[in-house]
Amino acid sequence: MKRRAVIVGCGQMAAGWVKSLTRTGLSDRVDICALVDPNLDMARALQSKFALDDAVLSPDLATVLTNQKPDLVLDIAVPAARLDIIRVALQAGCDVLTEKPMAVSIADARTINALAAETGRTHAVTQNRRFKDGVRRVRATIESGVIGEITALHADFFIGAHFGGFRDVMENVLLLDMAIHTFDAARYMSGEEPKAVYCLETNPKASWYAHGAAATAIFEFTNGVQFSYRGSWCAEGSDTNWDAAWRIIGTKGTILWDGLDGYDIHVVDGDEGFSRPLRSVPICEPTDASQTEDHTSVIREFLDALDQNRAPETAGTDNIKSLAMVFGAIESSAKKQRVMINP
Ligand SMILES: NC(=O)c1ccc[n+]([C@@H]2O[C@H](COP(=O)([O-])OP(=O)(O)OC[C@H]3O[C@@H](n4cnc5c(N)ncnc54)[C@H](O)[C@@H]3O)[C@@H](O)[C@H]2O)c1
Repeated sequence: MKRRAVIVGCGQMAAGWVKSLTRTGLSDRVDICALVDPNLDMARALQSKFALDDAVLSPDLATVLTNQKPDLVLDIAVPAARLDIIRVALQAGCDVLTEKPMAVSIADARTINALAAETGRTHAVTQNRRFKDGVRRVRATIESGVIGEITALHADFFIGAHFGGFRDVMENVLLLDMAIHTFDAARYMSGEEPKAVYCLETNPKASWYAHGAAATAIFEFTNGVQFSYRGSWCAEGSDTNWDAAWRIIGTKGTILWDGLDGYDIHVVDGDEGFSRPLRSVPICEPTDASQTEDHTSVIREFLDALDQNRAPETAGTDNIKSLAMVFGAIESSAKKQRVMINP
């Protein structure tokens, strides 16, 4: 079945989505029938970049929903606009795939999940960084049991990123706009869920952001697993990868992953000596290459879920657990206290 889709928000990320949507494999499943942006110049530029000549351009989603009667709304707008866009789209009977973060508050995220349930429509979030080769391979390696039972994950994320635009003025910019990916990856790779967090969020000296460009957080996960995160978007020099640099410790060994294609896995191979003898083991191969194509995989998984009448992997009802880690961390830092995580 070919679905008619409206793109809402025609900025930088929308170009990435359209590149995916116009690829073989997705172009025969989705027709882009309209481009919506309050700044019509953005819609025009997107239309001309990808020769979307048949798409209607509009600053107003409600009008487009009435006139075009699309099946899907693809929300790639700024986070502050998210709840209003999703509400109008779900109430018009559309299924909705939205960019991350799912919402700008847990209350908004709960409202979105309630709206999806009430309207009977599907809503999912583009948590694309879990659809990466490395994340899938680390998860498969953990699941194989080779490092035993997992006890801790540690992630470092340091990038001196000069975006300009909405991020420069956004509150809690690192936690809400970026750490959500790393937190979601920790949940996904470990298979454990967050219970509590202690966090210190700062805006370091010389930060070019208005608020919250750095954070250090310790999460308690289920089954006694600990997840620690150290991150900054205003650390100049020696960037890590965007998928962070990881140390994952199990009862029998450790996985080091640099966030790209560098893996170093050692497991105990003997029971004597101050340092036990170790043996190197390979990372698992990815099980399904179609799940490692970033945005393309998220969109394909969303469409497959609609076709199969099941919840997508990144449905709002699951993604709210990653978002709750973000808001738990923000609350902890504000209160200078450990807080429980309640999605
Ligand atoms: N998943 C990822 O890897 C990834 C990467 C970058 C950005 N993003 C996310 O994508 C979203 C957009 O980011 P961007 O970098 O494209 O930002 P951007 O500023 O380049 O574009 C945002 C667009 O939204 C439009 N907009 C504002 N209010 C709107 C409204 N009410 N209705 C419709 N459009 C509206 C703006 O005019 C602008 O054209 C953000 O949520 C961001 O976090 C995700």
